[in-house]
Amino acid sequence: MKEKTNGSNIIKIEMKQWFENLIMTIIVRMLFGKRYTEDHEVEEGKRVRKAIRTFFKLLSTFVAADFIPWLRWFDIGGYEKEMKENAKETDSILESWLLEHKKKRSCGEWKLCEDEKDFMDIMLDLFEGAKDEDLPGFDADTIIKSTCLAMLAGGTENTVVTLTWMLSLLLNNPHAMEKAKVELDIYVGRNILVGESHVKNLVYLQATVKESLRLYPPGPLSPPHESIENCIIGGYNISKGTRLFFNLWRIQRDSSVWLEHDIFKPERFLTTHKDIDVRGNHFELIPFGGGRRMCPGISATLVMLHLILANVLHAFEIRRPTDEPIDMIESFVTSNLKATLEVLCCSKAVPKFV
Ligand code: HEM
Repeated sequence: MKEKTNGSNIIKIEMKQWFENLIMTIIVRMLFGKRYTEDHEVEEGKRVRKAIRTFFKLLSTFVAADFIPWLRWFDIGGYEKEMKENAKETDSILESWLLEHKKKRSCGEWKLCEDEKDFMDIMLDLFEGAKDEDLPGFDADTIIKSTCLAMLAGGTENTVVTLTWMLSLLLNNPHAMEKAKVELDIYVGRNILVGESHVKNLVYLQATVKESLRLYPPGPLSPPHESIENCIIGGYNISKGTRLFFNLWRIQRDSSVWLEHDIFKPERFLTTHKDIDVRGNHFELIPFGGGRRMCPGISATLVMLHLILANVLHAFEIRRPTDEPIDMIESFVTSNLKATLEVLCCSKAVPKFV
């Protein structure tokens, strides 16, 4: 959503929407080799966007029957009906993409270059020649479609929400924004885009990403884990079969670990907490979870977060739409930001990107 303001080269952009389009484009391309832009394959694009948006809306909907099972009969709010319809629609889209991939393989229109394979291609490679007895319970097509859907569901909203928090935090903390920009000018230079090879030198940017994930993990409560045997956690006896939710938000704001725990201070990751990473090695900071079920998308995500944030800061002058700080109150809807984040964003005179 763009809005021109008073004839200058400043425009008002709804950044969450912009991040969503960008991340969907990257992830849909990575998983299925498809374009998710407004202007390509218009009818199919519209159908896919609608199905995916409904899927995300339903994913974060509170359904009373999940907690009081006998209410399922009444389907309060009609969510179950909507979920069934959406499951059918999403499955039919994935099925058609799977058939397309298979057709290309069978008629020899096959990508010779390994680098061009998308995630669905690689899954088809893995399952080629698999026998039914190798896959007890499910057929290969179902496993491929559901794994792709899990990647899509796990990957998009989390990344979009994190980018929105990061930008909001920087806009509310101008000194940090300035430091990140100065670093970009020094280590990247004014006339080029930020590339992957620059990121290792952008230590303040890396610290900003960690500090944002510490304060605002996009999933403040981890997905439920079920204990497979009796165990003791934090002094509590947990029986086998208990569903546990980890409160990442609380863990990552523990005042006995984090000095000034509620304050946005990327500098802590350059000094007192410089050896702490987000890869599940340090249990005080686990926005991607830890152990065997931790986020499988972590490496791709970290590349995306650093590159996107760095390029947005480097290529544009971004301002808040008013002098008021951005409202940082969380809410339980698809967006974790209560207020729509709108920023004024105008491209700099320099750099000239090529
Ligand atoms: C900032 C971005 C992201 C964050 C903070 C995040 C965080 C998480 C967390 C906390 C979990 C649960 C781990 C657990 O159960 O302990 C998870 C699971 C998962 N994530 Fe991510 N994630 C992000 C991006 C991505 C991306 C880009 C992808 C894929 C392209 C992805 C794919 C998945 C999948 C498939 C699961 C489920 C794994 C399973 O059930 O075993 N995530 N993620």
